[in-house]
Amino acid sequence: MSVHPSSNIKRITTHILQEMKGRGEKITMLTAYDFSMAGIIDAAGIDIILVGDSASNVMAGHETTLPITLDQMIYHASSVVRGVRRAFVVVDIPFGSYQGNSSEALRSAIRIMKESGAHAVKVEGGAEIKESVTRILSAGVPVMGHLGLTPQSIYKFGTYTVRAKEEEEANKLLEDAKILEESGCFAIVLEKIPAKLAKKVAETVSIPVIGIGAGGDVDGQVLVVHDMLGITQEFKPRFLRQYADLRGMMTQAVEDYVKDVKAKDFPNQSESY
Ligand code: KIV
Repeated sequence: MSVHPSSNIKRITTHILQEMKGRGEKITMLTAYDFSMAGIIDAAGIDIILVGDSASNVMAGHETTLPITLDQMIYHASSVVRGVRRAFVVVDIPFGSYQGNSSEALRSAIRIMKESGAHAVKVEGGAEIKESVTRILSAGVPVMGHLGLTPQSIYKFGTYTVRAKEEEEANKLLEDAKILEESGCFAIVLEKIPAKLAKKVAETVSIPVIGIGAGGDVDGQVLVVHDMLGITQEFKPRFLRQYADLRGMMTQAVEDYVKDVKAKDFPNQSESY
């Protein structure tokens, strides 16, 4: 167990996450892409921070996660790491930086770990990326898997609807989960699949299973922070619980500022030198 050098805060590790599954304690995970947000959610007690390639959507405004580059992910990840004292930081290896072959996957993982200071990487897929997972792990880098709706494959799926509703796809997903576990992944994200299937996966594999749109019978939950804080608009899937209306609050604050400046009310005397 490691301790943050400038405090007595015990850092979350893969070992602690495994223990949490063992005692039935739910694991909390949120995304973050910058220093300030990472600092807030870390101090609020989140267990895992995912520097997701959803940065491509919520930070850069792209329609999909495909355009974000390895350099851009490393920039976001290093900003997050500087804001975190306790949480375990996982970084998505972006589309095109690991699918080619296992050497490319290893090179990308090493760049992320070396240049950002993060604690683990995440990759999408099952059997087809087994060799890459093994290779990354051989360098001592913990790997989180991601099955179900894998956004890097959106053009193969053609839609963002629930995956693995049919038996064949459900069986493949369960097999892929076992392969990821056998390959040495420390956890698996399951995105947008039937709750019953997610429960079966969580009961079958011994590693933590973190769900997003996968029901409550898994070992933990993850959401995109901009969605749960109500910063994004229009994205309101059934699985999303919105915990705040930050977009409304921020809009109001900016409108008030504009009004005050226009009215020559800001700055007043006590706000001037
Ligand atoms: O990129 C991301 O934010 C993710 C989560 C949705 C799990 O992969």
